[in-house]
This record gives sequence, structure tokens and C-alpha cells, in this order.
Amino acid sequence: MLTLAIETSCDETSCAVIKDGREVLSNIISSQIDIHRKFGGVVPEIASRKHIEAINNIIQEALDKADITFNDLDLIGVTQGPGLVGALLVGISAAKALAYGLDIPLIGVNHIEGHICANYIEHKDLKPPFTCLVVSGGHTYLLNVKGYTEYELVGRTRDDAAGEAFDKVARSIGLPYPGGPFIDKLSKEGDKDSIPFPRVYLDDNSYDFSFSGLKTAVLNYINQTQQKGEEIVVENVAASFQQAVLDVLVDKSFRLAKEAGSDKIVIAGGVAANQGLREMLEDRGKKENINIYYPSRILCTDNAAMIGSAAYYHYINDEKSDLSLNVEPNLGLN
Ligand code: KG4
Ligand code: ZN
Repeated sequence: MLTLAIETSCDETSCAVIKDGREVLSNIISSQIDIHRKFGGVVPEIASRKHIEAINNIIQEALDKADITFNDLDLIGVTQGPGLVGALLVGISAAKALAYGLDIPLIGVNHIEGHICANYIEHKDLKPPFTCLVVSGGHTYLLNVKGYTEYELVGRTRDDAAGEAFDKVARSIGLPYPGGPFIDKLSKEGDKDSIPFPRVYLDDNSYDFSFSGLKTAVLNYINQTQQKGEEIVVENVAASFQQAVLDVLVDKSFRLAKEAGSDKIVIAGGVAANQGLREMLEDRGKKENINIYYPSRILCTDNAAMIGSAAYYHYINDEKSDLSLNVEPNLGLN
């Protein structure tokens, strides 16, 4: 079963061909990041225009790389939301045109679910149920994944997403956008115990997150240090901030896994590329007999292969979208 998938929710125009939901025949990702970096973040109108310019070529490239033609395709999958409305519209319009023209089924995919499914591509034996932490630029979710299309949402951020906090703190210490990978790298050279930034656990039983207080604490630290005329050691700021985020993410993930009786923690989304997060989960996983899963870096950040995997599992679950499919910029998980 060959699925052609399209992802245009933010600033990557991506198209992939996936076999049977797990095997990547091609995964073309065209990033606009160099354009948006000049503005310190993604500019929605520019993103939409760039998607329009790129989409047809990216689709053709995905077919060529997979060494197939349109007529070999069985299914079209496309990101329906959440994301930028104009950007999503470009992908959904292309997907509808293909499904109609080729007379094959169409599936609208939740982008967050796509991030989770990146793990099915990476780990061929991974099956639900498992505990899952989704940490991306726009979302932070803690879930019990009960089946391939069945999710129980247990916790979410009450303010900033984890990736958003990384990006804002990175900006405050003069790093380029998106700052997550730069903080990750700098952290390795800093002392994570040098600055006591707050860990926000909310109340004892909560699986929710809050990162805006931590972000403010970092900004206050920078201002106060500058006012005192002291030098800011960016490596120490990066390492101490990152550790404050990771302590909470890791702690809540393990608490949920234990409560759910799960021996698997799966992480997904851009921040799942973070080396510190992976190592911390693995160290604790070894002590507590919990296996840790994450996708390779290229499958952590936005790509169409993960959308193809999610589309496949919805299709075999007898679901189908029709040509009235519309974008849902604020789509949640359930
Ligand atoms: O999943 P993603 O590509 O886009 C969304 O769906 O939001 O995630 C992008 C986010 C950005 O905030 C970026 O800074 C963060 O993932 N990120 C990282 C790392 N690589 C990407 N954050 C921390 N460490 C990393 N290595
Ligand atoms: Zn994403």
C-alpha cells in the first residue's frame, strides 16, 4: 500500500511516499527557515507563498525519489491541523486535487499524531500501548497511546510549549531562530547546576506543564546580571535552563508510565531531538526498566513521512476524508 503524504503546517514544505505505514520510500523536506530567520520567527504570509512556489516540485521529487508514478499511489494523506491556516491550505488543496484526479482515498491527518507516528517508522516493532511525550515548537502533550488511532490526553502545557520556551530563551542570549538545537549544543559546555532556575510541577497530581515562569526567570536573571555589570556565561544559562525543562518533562513522563503500568516511553516532536532529554530518559529508563523510544533527528522535526504513517493507520481503521476536508488550525488531539 503506497501513501503519498503532504505536510505544510508551518515552514517546511514536505512530501513523502510511505509503504504500508512504516517504510519510507522518499521524504523530501524543503525548509524555508533561512527566510524566516531574518524575522526571528515564522512569518505566516511568507510561509504560505513559499509553500505555493514549492509544492508541485516537492511532490514530483518525492515520486521520483521513490521511483514510482502517480498511478502507483493508493492513498493521499495530508496535514489538516494544527498549524498556520494559509500554510495548511496549500497542502490540503494539493492533496484534494491529487485524490480527486487519481480517484484514490484522502485522509486528513492531525499533525501531532504524525509526530507520534514518526516512531513507527523508526522502530519497526513498536506497537501501542505506550506512554508518550509530545514536545514540539507549538505543543506539549503527555498521553497514553492506547491504539494506533486511540489517544488519551493526560497533560498539556498551560502556557508556552517546550520548544517555544527553548526558542525564546535562545533569543534572549543572542542565538538564532529556532534556538532549540543551539541551546542543546551550548548546554554541553555549561554547568547545569550553576543557576537555580525554577522547576514548575504545578500541583502534585497534575500532568500539566507550565514554562512561561521559567522563561521569565531566565530573562530576569539576564537583566539582573547585566545591571550588576557581571558577565553572562551563555553556556551556563543554556545548561541550567535546559535542565530545568528536562527535569519536569522526564519526571512527569515516568510518573505517568508507572501509573499506566507501561514499560515504554515514546517521545516525539522537535524537542525529542534534544540530546540531553534523550540521555536523561535513557539513564532513568535503565534504572526503572522502562524502554525509551525516539525518532531519528530528521523524523523528529516536521516532515511528511510521519503524516503518511498516521494516514495509513487511519485508513486501515476504515476512516476516510472527503473533498469537503478543510484545514483546522487549532485541531486538538481528542
Ligand atoms: O515539531 P517541530 O519541528 O515543529 C512544530 O510542530 O512545532 O518542532 C520545532 C521545535 C522548535 O521549537 C525547535 O527549537 C525545537 O523543536 N527543537 C529542539 C531541538 N531541535 C529542535 N529543541 C531542543 N533541542 C533540540 N535539539
Ligand atoms: Zn511539528
